[in-house]
Amino acid sequence: MNSTLIIGSQFGDEGKGKIVDCLAEKSDCVVRFQGANNAGHTVVVDGEKFKLHLLPSGVVRKKRSLIGTGVCIDPRVLKKEIDGLKEKGIEVNLGIDPRSQIIMPWHNVIDVGKEEALKEKNIGTTRRGVGPCYADRASRIGIRFDDLVDENRFKEKLAFNYSYYKNICENILGKTIEFTEEEVFQEYFALGKEFKNMLTDVSIEVNQLLDKKKKVLFEGAQGTLLDNDFGTYPFVTSSHPISGAATVGVGMSPKRLERIIGIVKAYTTRVGSGPFPTELHEKEADFLRNAGNEFGTTTGRARRVGWLDLPMLRMAQRLNGFTELGLTKLDVLSGIKELKIADSYTLEGKKVLEFPYANHLVQKCKPNYKEFDGFTLEDKERDELRKNGFGALDENAKKYISFIEKQLKVPIKTVSFGAERKDTLTRD
Ligand code: GDP
Ligand code: IMO
Ligand code: MG
Repeated sequence: MNSTLIIGSQFGDEGKGKIVDCLAEKSDCVVRFQGANNAGHTVVVDGEKFKLHLLPSGVVRKKRSLIGTGVCIDPRVLKKEIDGLKEKGIEVNLGIDPRSQIIMPWHNVIDVGKEEALKEKNIGTTRRGVGPCYADRASRIGIRFDDLVDENRFKEKLAFNYSYYKNICENILGKTIEFTEEEVFQEYFALGKEFKNMLTDVSIEVNQLLDKKKKVLFEGAQGTLLDNDFGTYPFVTSSHPISGAATVGVGMSPKRLERIIGIVKAYTTRVGSGPFPTELHEKEADFLRNAGNEFGTTTGRARRVGWLDLPMLRMAQRLNGFTELGLTKLDVLSGIKELKIADSYTLEGKKVLEFPYANHLVQKCKPNYKEFDGFTLEDKERDELRKNGFGALDENAKKYISFIEKQLKVPIKTVSFGAERKDTLTRD
């Protein structure tokens, strides 16, 4: 198959970056199509850690990397990321769609100001200005990458945006704008110049690659439950981290999508506010959080943790049409005597299998758990798995996996049992 799509099926941080890195080996090109530097994707190669926020994780394997129009780009972050990789000996072969939106410095100010104004009802955003940037795209005042590379066009757009946002930031949010219009022009025009030769029509490039039967890997950011419509609104991100978004975020037909892999963490985590029916607290939570090193890649915040949730995953399956699943972080469950998976909820006395459409209903849901005997996946067992593959998995781990497959009616073809590339099992 030529096109493969990687999608987060929970609240993000499922281990998408690691799986993209594994699949990138046999891909010609890796493409980001939504989100921004709110994403933090980790790739670990022989102990060396790469944290990617805007660049597709395929850069680590020096693959052609594309950022589609659906991504909001903070050019300061992009430059830092490219420079950081260069220091590690990686030259980035990047193409950027000129239609992609630019995160401008006032977007960060608005993101923070809005969170503060929401007080205890805040979303817990990454404060990277992503929401305000997407809002500008929708309200049609956004600055596109194409604008950064033309002095007159940029000056004209900047003049409107600068005075518009200075007014909002200072007079509504009570924030001081520390930068002048001229300073913003100088810095961002210089950044535009630096990236000018990377601008490419990503829609044309991707479609041509697929026409030539090249292998293209599409890398989703965030996760399905953070979808702007279908997630736990308003505690969501501002883009659509679901499979359909790849078509509009790149500029290609839905008919192009062949293999759609849902990445499922073996338990659930969430950063930021919002409902989480299977959430664990205190000691149980501490154990999972520490074993899984569940601290945000982007903001360093402690992630909330809980058991695997099938109503959530049924919704992810319905929205994304996964052709297969990749189960990650199975090793983190090692040593827990009794594992649990929520196979349904009880809502107002009734059993429900599907994730409800609104938070006021989700909040009333009590998870019904199925219990499983635990397994150990320590150094000895992991060595065994690296040598002998899937068949060497502990019987209890196999039962855990096959329950998920049966419930969701999708095969789990990849199992990850460590952050390193080599800690990955695949089967047909
Ligand atoms: P992403 O945003 O979906 O790419 O995921 P993150 O990179 O934010 O978070 C996943 C974290 O788990 C990273 O630190 C990875 O290095 C790590 N990781 C990925 N897969 C595994 C796994 O199977 N086992 C363990 N222990 N860690 C993993
Ligand atoms: P990756 O790609 C986990 C969460 C934030 C917050 C909400 C809105 O690494 O899986 P935003 O800054 O997008 O306006 O914040 O979404 N969030 C993520 N959580 N992983 C991510 O990306 C996330 N990107 C955004 O914590 O709750
Ligand atoms: Mg992440």
